[in-house]
Amino acid sequence: MTPVRDAGSGRGVNRRQLLIGGAVAGLGAAAAIGADLALTAQDRASSTPTTGTEAVTGGETIAFHGPHQAGIAAVPQAHATFIALDLRPSTSRDGLRRMMRILTDDAARLTQGEAALADSEAELAAAPARLTVTFGFGPGLVARAGGDAPEWLAPLPAFSIDRLEDAWSGGDLLIDIASDDPLTVAHTARMLLKDARRFATVRWRQDGFRRARGTEQPGTTMRNLFGQVDGTVNPTPGTHDFDAVVWATDGWVAGGTSLVIRRIRMTLDTWDELDRSGREQSIGRTLSNGAPLTGTKETDEPDFTATGTAGFPVIPDFAHIRRARGDGTERIYRRSYNYDLPPTGDGVSESGLIFASYQSDVIAQFLPIQRRLDELDLLNQWTIPIGSAVFAIPPGCDRDGFIGETLLA
Ligand code: HEM
Repeated sequence: MTPVRDAGSGRGVNRRQLLIGGAVAGLGAAAAIGADLALTAQDRASSTPTTGTEAVTGGETIAFHGPHQAGIAAVPQAHATFIALDLRPSTSRDGLRRMMRILTDDAARLTQGEAALADSEAELAAAPARLTVTFGFGPGLVARAGGDAPEWLAPLPAFSIDRLEDAWSGGDLLIDIASDDPLTVAHTARMLLKDARRFATVRWRQDGFRRARGTEQPGTTMRNLFGQVDGTVNPTPGTHDFDAVVWATDGWVAGGTSLVIRRIRMTLDTWDELDRSGREQSIGRTLSNGAPLTGTKETDEPDFTATGTAGFPVIPDFAHIRRARGDGTERIYRRSYNYDLPPTGDGVSESGLIFASYQSDVIAQFLPIQRRLDELDLLNQWTIPIGSAVFAIPPGCDRDGFIGETLLA
């Protein structure tokens, strides 16, 4: 049924509502019900798709096998679910190997649009929509495997801004599932968790989103729920620069990386009290297109030395980008997702960022940045870290291998 636009409210009023409104006024209720039934049948016929003209992208796949796990350098998908599991006390090193073989097999199939073995909803696997599955190992898993943990594979030191909750922190095994389609994410999560159940239990699960596929050109920098363009200064996948920032080169993690996940609540209800100029100063960039306050385009290099007429820096000392940048020597790759949950108490929002940072070495790269932000960052007024976890992301594998083989084989 063609919706009739109500220009004032922007809401669609359909023919049924108009006709029934008229019928009830003019003909009485019985005639109106008859008209409604006839229109319902007509509706059903017209809502069945006939010839599709829009591009359908559910069949798109990202190769699973290769030197690196695919979900890091891939153009970020619209949806991601991060699941942390705790190993069962009975899971041995052999058990870990069996678990990773099974999960790798599931992930290799599902990402290519094939059902997993014993997939009870096989039809749901048919639309991977650029599905990637990325596995990460926490300190507990590496200890259980009897392996050497890199020095950085440990909980982060406590920061003064932290209000961490166990419910969002730690974990032995991470499964990060990302796709442009939320039903694919849900099915993949269920399939993998069914197969992991014998070995591990779910500790936490964080569901995140970006804009839907097709809403913007692919590669457009995402926006967070503060409305900020978030992710501008980031190494570009496929470049030497990215490789140097992200991929580890030592031991069983070589070809892999580290992932720091911080669940950061964004207090939108108090952010509302800040005017637009205050919002832009807190970050050092404009809200309209993410340009630095000293430039006009998103990609313009910020001028941290520029001062205004009163002699104060145009990008304030407390601005997030000045504090995060430091002298520019520590760099990370950010690939975050928004979350938005039902509000609790008096507020109208329970929202934030699943902040995901990849780097070859947490201690050398992530920690100095986080320390600077802990010391001073105006954004801290409206952001509260409530979860924290660190994982080693093992390298990718070949067709006959499995993720984690460099530690477990
Ligand atoms: C909810 C919390 C946060 C929000 C809303 C946020 C938002 C932003 C925004 C809007 C930018 C500017 C655009 C860009 O380059 O992406 C930015 C830059 C940046 N942020 Fe954050 N951020 C948050 C937390 C963090 C944390 C926890 C870290 C690391 C510990 C971090 C590190 C960075 C870095 C390294 C940059 C680039 C700075 C540069 O060199 O220009 N951010 N952030």
